[in-house]
Amino acid sequence: MRGTFEEGLEYDSRLGAEGTFLNGVYEEGTIRYGEMAHGFPEKKQTMINVANGKKIILKLDNEIFSMQAGNILDYKRSINMREGVLKRSLIWQSPMGKQIRLETERLVCFQRRNLAAVSYKVTPLDFDGTIIVLSEIDGDTKYALGEKDPRIGSGLEGGSFFTIDAVVDSETAALFQRTKRTGITVACVVKGTIKTECSYTSDKYICRDRVGFEYKVTGQKGKAIEYTKFIVYEASEESCSSLMSYTLKVLEGAMERGYDGLAREQYEFLSDYWYRSDIEIKGDIALQQAIRFNLFHLLQSVGRDGKTNICAKGLTGEGYEGHYFWDTEMYIIPAFLYSSPGISRKLLEYRYGTLDKARERAREMSHKKGALFPWRTINGEECSGYFPAGTAQYHINAAIAHAIKKYMEATQDEEFLLSCGAEMLFETARLWADLGYFNACKDGRFCINCVTGPDEYTAIVNNNFYTNIMAKDNLEIAYNTAVWMKECHRPEYDRLAAKIGLEPEETELWKRAADNMYLPYSEKLGIHMQDDTFLDKKVWDFKNVPKENYPLLLHYHPLVIYRHQVCKQADVVLALFLLGHKFSQEQKRRDYEYYEKVTTHDSSLSASIFSIVANDIGYHEEAYDYFIKTARMDLDDYQGNTHHGVHTANMAGSWMCIVNGFAGMRVYDDILSFKPYIHPDWESYSFRIAYRGRLIQLTISSSETSYELLEGNELEITHRDKKYRLKDRLTLE
Ligand code: BGC
Repeated sequence: MRGTFEEGLEYDSRLGAEGTFLNGVYEEGTIRYGEMAHGFPEKKQTMINVANGKKIILKLDNEIFSMQAGNILDYKRSINMREGVLKRSLIWQSPMGKQIRLETERLVCFQRRNLAAVSYKVTPLDFDGTIIVLSEIDGDTKYALGEKDPRIGSGLEGGSFFTIDAVVDSETAALFQRTKRTGITVACVVKGTIKTECSYTSDKYICRDRVGFEYKVTGQKGKAIEYTKFIVYEASEESCSSLMSYTLKVLEGAMERGYDGLAREQYEFLSDYWYRSDIEIKGDIALQQAIRFNLFHLLQSVGRDGKTNICAKGLTGEGYEGHYFWDTEMYIIPAFLYSSPGISRKLLEYRYGTLDKARERAREMSHKKGALFPWRTINGEECSGYFPAGTAQYHINAAIAHAIKKYMEATQDEEFLLSCGAEMLFETARLWADLGYFNACKDGRFCINCVTGPDEYTAIVNNNFYTNIMAKDNLEIAYNTAVWMKECHRPEYDRLAAKIGLEPEETELWKRAADNMYLPYSEKLGIHMQDDTFLDKKVWDFKNVPKENYPLLLHYHPLVIYRHQVCKQADVVLALFLLGHKFSQEQKRRDYEYYEKVTTHDSSLSASIFSIVANDIGYHEEAYDYFIKTARMDLDDYQGNTHHGVHTANMAGSWMCIVNGFAGMRVYDDILSFKPYIHPDWESYSFRIAYRGRLIQLTISSSETSYELLEGNELEITHRDKKYRLKDRLTLE
């Protein structure tokens, strides 16, 4: 539920775009290609804006309250991230000169997934007169259409909902709308209560796609009118009557608790979240605010039921059509993993739920074995309409395998590995084995052709270094998991092998492919080549291209971009972070320096990775600059498109910048290690890490790092390359 005003604003996509999104509620449409080819996804999926249940319109006699009219004499709006409540208080003078005080509060419950509540209090300050409160559900939703920006998506033609029922009695209003193609019914049901010493009458109305109540109050100067509204959403393919009985139950629970009770629940839930997740930076208030804002947003948007995931823009806007990308596995899972590992597991369970579709997609893409996860999706089917920067990004498979590896390292959750992790590891490994081949022209090394790496400004290449090294890792993890299962969990291994038809020689092939993986390297420059031909291309003319031509994707045909050495985001540099133990510091420096010069950071997924690697190689000032961009990207709208929705991968990246970047946390070879650095402007910073049943608090100041074991058994850790045993507290330089 976007933080727009209850009464709304004149529609303006930058300012007041209404938005209420339910994770996983989407509509399909037809992707129209100029020229169709085999395997092109035919259906688009778009997360859709559902009915606006928070709407409240206020009238003073015949004047309608609006922030765009009259005078605002006093105003404050805040999102309290400790309480999880959006607050607004203001004094408004109407064009005819009447003054009111308005105090609103709104929360979307974290614990009751269907429920939101609004507390709305209006007080006439200098007049007696009629005050009308209209509380409605507005099903006439609008969409962000028609902008020529690929990052928004092409939208849906002709709307996507039709209203199938609307009911209202003296207390409850309900609107049922069904998507035209996916057949999902969304119920929005509200209940309200009014409290005032003034006399009032109430009425109800249904008007096409809108349904609600009208309270007519004989307002008296100084006497408050308090209205509380509980809003429940539910979506499913079930009938309206079963949706109604379910939502009424949720509403009953809400009425029992009352607004204040729900606010308390919200506070308690968040107290636990912040206890585990907070990062405290002393000495920089702007950064402190930013990091908490980011962590709060991630929690608001992430699917926690194993059936939904997290959209690139969270649930905050229509950018990227609400699609789930590799952003989840590469950025968001790591940020949750060391504070709320349960959420990371749910995100992986979502992927597991889509494994059959990924297998089908692999067959459609002519792979005899394995699974190919979609580059963009909501329902598990590939829906990227531009394959060079979509389907070609096979590295999503490796991202999923990598996330499973990190999840297992941090949790040792064998039940997960046996019930779903191993199957995903095997199927992704099989895909690499099928996709690549031992290339005689490259000394029999295992090569992977015609893919796109993370850098979307370079497409359809042979041997993208990042893809190859991550595929190698994927193959190794799958092989090691198979060996472990054969030794320790033979029945489960046999069952899985029978289920997916795994031949004994396949795992050996994974090992051979991994051992012989081709990793392009330029002896002349002493750097890893992004792919076989990257270095043959002309370097982009950074000097003469004006600033306003960035992001390049909005100003140049893809071919123009593709034929140059220019990167949208971290590619080789991302591998330097993820598999950093495989490279010398000198090698990392050379690679970083080379690719830094040719990277635009037009993607919001870039700056955080450069910050982490810069810290690793001792370029702390650069690391800090990249970090500032990351941390405040949405608060300060650095990319100029926050109105499309926030950048969730980047938000998670800001967590990584602190923990993996400044504190240098890594887990390689089963050891949790740190190399803390503190920026001279900070007094100290601290955070907590959940790892294998422990909770460890780190506090880093310019003179020392303290490790405190808050939960769990003692543990061996590495601090600046030296091993220590953490029993309860360690203070080190
Ligand atoms: C980036 C992708 C990313 C997508 C969604 C694009 O701009 O290049 O790496 O997955 O945005 O965030």
